[in-house]
Order: sequence, then structure tokens, then C-alpha cells
Amino acid sequence: NKMLFNDRIMDRKNLVDIEDRGYQFGDGIYEVIGVYDGKPLMLDEHLERLERSAKEIKLNMSSSIGNLKTKLEELVSANSLNEGIIYMQVSRGAAARWHEFPNADTSTVTVAYTRAEDRANNVEDQGATAVLTEDIRWLRCDIKTLNLLPNVLAKQEAVEHGAIEAILHRGEIVTEASASNVFMVKDGELYTHPADNYILNGITRRKIIQLCEALNLKVNEQTYTVDELLNADEVFISATKLDVVPILKVDDHTIGNGEPGEITKQIVKEFRSLY
Ligand code: PDD
Repeated sequence: NKMLFNDRIMDRKNLVDIEDRGYQFGDGIYEVIGVYDGKPLMLDEHLERLERSAKEIKLNMSSSIGNLKTKLEELVSANSLNEGIIYMQVSRGAAARWHEFPNADTSTVTVAYTRAEDRANNVEDQGATAVLTEDIRWLRCDIKTLNLLPNVLAKQEAVEHGAIEAILHRGEIVTEASASNVFMVKDGELYTHPADNYILNGITRRKIIQLCEALNLKVNEQTYTVDELLNADEVFISATKLDVVPILKVDDHTIGNGEPGEITKQIVKEFRSLY
């Protein structure tokens, strides 16, 4: 099993410095990329988002996006990964622990590894349940940073209730879920929170919006309330590797008739045809 450490592909081992800023402050960014039939899906889009996250937290990546792309593809083939994910992160580097940025000569630390994982076919076909929880995150959820404690706490709550996800709301407004985006369908149209600072603009989310255009399905990128979510005809979540999962129940409320809806099923099918 191989990993990428900065510019080198090597045997996987523990190389984290105890003063790595990713480890101590969550001072870094990451991406999770799906691998289908040995090929990373939408790799360019993920790397573009990584570049944007870097810029937003003023982190200078030591490696170009073009070089990273080559290395990640090398990693996938070095691990003979057919089906699964690539995890990659870039931290602001290892330096004496002071909150402010380290000296300019401190280099960022890039790591990546792969994990074999089956397709989520079962849950995509049968659907799952979700719980609602208050969104207690900061106001830059558009940046894919390593700071995930609120997401971890929300997901744990979901799992303790036998649910796949925790759907987050800021007051009355539904934002997204702990590790996925949320869509609802009402009267034949889709609704999802706009891509502003309150959500991560998912690569899967963007692809679904494109697919809907081709299907002549209207997607309204506008906010909606918890009440509207609970009274929707259909609800689904989207994320890398999970792809599109119908949500049949939110807390004690059954969504629609409690079965995966027609529009959701259509999107599941279209998404599958991408790989
Ligand atoms: N999470 N919103 C949040 C908060 C997320 O963490 C994710 C992805 C998404 C969906 O984004 P995308 O479609 O680009 O995967 C939305 C990844 C999978 C994770 O942290 O494991």
C-alpha cells in the first residue's frame, strides 16, 4: 500500500510531525475523490476546488495542480485501486507552534492515500434516513478545510440514531448535511441551498445540476426551510462516492410516500451512467 508524501510515492507509513499545523490547528485543506473502474472521477474539478480552498486560507501550495494530478493518477495505479477513494490533504506545514503563519520558508505538507470502497448501490436504490441538527459551523463552509469537529459531532448523532446523515439547519434554513449536500423536490422542481459561504459547493452537487439541465428538470438554487424540507415530495443527499442517496425519513417525518421518488431515481440512474 503506497502513499503520496509531498512529491514522492512511497510505502505507507506514519510521517506526521507532532508540530504539523494540520494536526495541531486543522490548518489545511483536503479533497476526497471517487475512483471508479480505476479512474478518478472529476479529478480536475476536485483539484480546482483544492486550489480555491488554498487561496481562501492564504496557503501557498508547493506543488502545481498539474503535477498533483499526475501524482494522484500514479498513486491510483501504484495501489491497483479499482473502486474506492483518494484522500488528499495539504497542511500549512510543520513549524514551532504559534498561531500565526510560520516563516515563508516553511513548506506545506501534502499527503494522499487511497482506500478501497464498494459502490453505494444498495443504499442508492433503497434509500436511507436522516436526522436534523443545528448547523454550528463557522461562516466559511465553502472552504474545504481540515476543521471538521462540528461535522464529526453531527455525523455521530446521525449514526447513533441509525441514520446515514445529519441534515444541518441554521435557524429555519436548511444548509447541507455533515458530509454531503441536500436537495429536495417539490411539484417537479428541485431546490438546493445556493453555493455561498454557508455550504460546500459539492462536485457531485454541481454535476447533478448539469445533469438536470440536460433532463429539463428545473433546479432552484435558493434557500428553503426545515418545514419545506419535511413537506417535500422527495429528498436526497449527494457526495463523492456516496453519489445520490434518497432520504425516506427525516427524524420522525416520512418524506413523500416513504419510497425513493421518481425524480431522485432518474438522477441516480443518470449519475451512474457517468462511469
Ligand atoms: N465530503 N458538504 C460537505 C460538508 C462535505 O464534507 C462534502 C463532501 C460535500 C459533498 O461534496 P462533494 O460532492 O464534492 O464530495 C458537501 C467528503 C466526501 C468527505 O469529507 O469525506
